[in-house]
Amino acid sequence: MKTTFAGLELGSEEFAAEVADALDRVEDLLIAELSSGDEVLLEAATHLAKAGGKRFRPMFAILASNFGPEPVSDDVITAATVVEMTHLATLYHDDVMDEAPLRRGAQSANARWSNSIAILAGDFLFARASRLVSTLGPESVRIIAETFAELVTGQMRETVGARGGDAVDHYLRVVWEKTGSLIAAAGRFGAMTSGADPERIEILAKIGDIVGVAFQVSDDVIDIASVTDDSGKTPGTDLREGVHTLPVLYALGGEGPDAVRLRELLLDPETGAARPLTDDDEVTEALNLLVASDGMTAARRRLEEMADEARAELAKLPEGPARDAFESLVSYTVDRVG
Ligand code: IPE
Ligand code: IPE
Ligand code: MG
Ligand code: MG
Repeated sequence: MKTTFAGLELGSEEFAAEVADALDRVEDLLIAELSSGDEVLLEAATHLAKAGGKRFRPMFAILASNFGPEPVSDDVITAATVVEMTHLATLYHDDVMDEAPLRRGAQSANARWSNSIAILAGDFLFARASRLVSTLGPESVRIIAETFAELVTGQMRETVGARGGDAVDHYLRVVWEKTGSLIAAAGRFGAMTSGADPERIEILAKIGDIVGVAFQVSDDVIDIASVTDDSGKTPGTDLREGVHTLPVLYALGGEGPDAVRLRELLLDPETGAARPLTDDDEVTEALNLLVASDGMTAARRRLEEMADEARAELAKLPEGPARDAFESLVSYTVDRVG
């Protein structure tokens, strides 16, 4: 029996088996729900779930459920599935907006079929997530609805840009909204559905906030520094979209010839606004400059600070295999390459 799962160290065989079993139950429920519509939806609606993915959010919810009296209860499995379905739905829409060709190592739904099909498949997933969360009661429906609104607000804020405000503040707000909010909901839901007390629920939601932001910052580092074989996505997608992430923002503020060249490549000379890159050679050149930049080092340092913050919150929880697994999850979040 393996005691590592999706890059995490899960300690004892017993605990690892419990988590693996819970994730299997999530998988079954996810595929069953996504396959439950009309035949005309089936292939597109199950495409991304079947393509792979790390199941980071269900894992987060399941680990959080270990801080309540009823870990891995049926409600915990439902909650973890709802969070993954919501995440998956946003991926369909995100790839349309980002014009991304690859996702989870497979063709994105927009590339394989069309934008219309990707948008409709994402909508169907939202509908199924809403139906499923209704079985958990009105408080859960409220939480997921609010989380979804935060997430959409983040995607909107990213799309309209910083509008002259502080670019790093804008970025950090966007990443909490678009990614941190859902990972915080995973922590909250996992703890809530296992009957954890309110104080612990808040700690787990807070850990989700911090880890969620770090998870997106590391995704943004990966967009610059990883290869498709590791990430299952196309590097440089953010630059092509004219989205300046944390390492880019730091690098643009640097000194020396490389920073000068990066500013030339990435900023509109007239307005100073982000300039989406359309030329493959320019994308390659910008990525090479970024990989070697101080901005990259600074973003990684910032990630380490976030990890320390998350560890400080974790220390408030009781010791045991779930806390150890969360420690491993925090390290994984900041060190991952895919
Ligand atoms: C991708 O999320 C989108 C982000 C919020 C960074 P994941 O990196 O969790 O993607 P999957 O689920 O493993 O495909
Ligand atoms: C994704 O952000 C956030 C959501 C899907 C809400 P990105 O656009 O940076 O994520 P990837 O890199 O495509 O997975
Ligand atoms: Mg994207
Ligand atoms: Mg995006």
